[in-house]
Amino acid sequence: MSAPRPPRPRVLSGIRPTGDSFQLGNYVGAVRHWAAMQDESDCFFFLADLHALTDTPEPERLRTRTREAVAELLALGVDADRSTVFAQSHLPQHVELSWILSCLTGFGEASRMTQFQDKTASGASSSVGLFYYPVLQAADILMYQADAVPIGEDQRQHLELTRDLAQRFNGRYGQTFTLPAPYAGRQGERIKDLQDPTRKMSKSIGGAGTVWVLDDPRTITKKIKSAVTDTGREVRAADDKPGVTNLLTIASVATGASIPDLEQTYVGRGYGDLKGDVAAAVVELFAPVRERYDALLADPGHLDAVLADGAGRAGEVAERTMTAVRERVGLLAPRRTPR
Ligand code: TYM
Repeated sequence: MSAPRPPRPRVLSGIRPTGDSFQLGNYVGAVRHWAAMQDESDCFFFLADLHALTDTPEPERLRTRTREAVAELLALGVDADRSTVFAQSHLPQHVELSWILSCLTGFGEASRMTQFQDKTASGASSSVGLFYYPVLQAADILMYQADAVPIGEDQRQHLELTRDLAQRFNGRYGQTFTLPAPYAGRQGERIKDLQDPTRKMSKSIGGAGTVWVLDDPRTITKKIKSAVTDTGREVRAADDKPGVTNLLTIASVATGASIPDLEQTYVGRGYGDLKGDVAAAVVELFAPVRERYDALLADPGHLDAVLADGAGRAGEVAERTMTAVRERVGLLAPRRTPR
């Protein structure tokens, strides 16, 4: 008789249903890893619609975009049979746990979160929700006892806070939460804005510097060909060449070639050649995704069924965690009165 297989590691990650579609950075830093981890891990992927509210989107747009985002995840290779796909707001336990964790979070600790500092510094009006964002994120992760959290480099600090809160809770109330593995970045984890390669590509900035997964081939080509590059002519990745480094990173992800190999290919050739090749590679990468997306979106009933099924599966895990948490922190269990 063969030995029983050890349980698969639990993986959890989320993405906000904002913008017109996901952008290239979301794919590179997060979603491509999600699709690749589904065989060896027990995966939970969700649409962070409550986190999206920090941007106060139009209500109808948020609803539509949440459904579109499910179609986009499936088109990018997330498989709802192998992974649990759900909407954060369908599980009220997330907010409940976030409140309990917020009572263990220092005000100064939350104030040091750089995403909050950056967003506030950029002039966006800062709400209590924006400040609280990382605590809700910690609740998302700890609820499912996640071993690993595939996220882009910009989310590293939020994961560190999550680990601190898990340790604090376990220390005070007894072992309850799994500590998610620390962030292990890989090369190409951070994609920069094409028009300003000193800042990250982001859904909230948008414009000519952002490539959307669902952009049509002409738009993708135009945006990449108009990318801001650096002084000099040599195609090589270096700190003083943020624009070229970004294009090489994108090329490496889209073609599978390593950056040193790509640098070799461009010896004696210029930035124009690089841009043309990157544009063609990204067009080829996303063309089949757009096709699958259109087909999936044509069947909203199926997308809703995916979310309903996901909420059922996620709910079982969430309720198990919350039953333990409520008891450990000392909340009196409600008595069910028979009618
Ligand atoms: P969101 O929607 O802003 O980003 C989703 C994922 O995309 C990554 N990402 C990038 N990676 C590389 N280069 C870029 N330019 C780039 N832009 C975005 C982000 O790091 C992220 O992994 N806070 C999360 C949503 C969330 C979450 C969670 C994630 C809420 N709860 C629990 C994991 C676990 C976010 O940044 O979403």
